[in-house]
Amino acid sequence: MANAQREMPVLPEAWTWIANSSDLDGPRPVIPITIYGQRLVLFRDDEGKLGLIERHCPHRGADMCFGRREDNGLRCPFHGWLFDRNGQCIEQPAEPADSTLYKTIKLPSYPVVEKNGAVMAFLGSGEPPAEDNIA
Ligand code: FES
Repeated sequence: MANAQREMPVLPEAWTWIANSSDLDGPRPVIPITIYGQRLVLFRDDEGKLGLIERHCPHRGADMCFGRREDNGLRCPFHGWLFDRNGQCIEQPAEPADSTLYKTIKLPSYPVVEKNGAVMAFLGSGEPPAEDNIA
């Protein structure tokens, strides 16, 4: 089928359970998350905060699940682009030192919270509902 467009799933406008906090215990808190057709990676940064970002690097598509946690982010295992927990690229090692190209690169990311040992994500559009509504 030529020119077929991929249909995006309708994502819930509510907090959705994606993992347990204990899934991120251990020396390498980086896990793949596949939900509603989205391929994502969940990781805990050096500050202990969670990031839920697109799983594939926007450069050459490397799997960020094999990325290295360092400098408070997740570094792509292929050419080393570094992303923070919000999906913002914060470093491109092969670019000239004065390049600001990295500022224009951002992976899709989703709000994520931990509550009562559960990791909840908001995959909907707009602002997430108040975290108080999470049971
Ligand atoms: S594929 Fe990720 S930096 Fe090149």
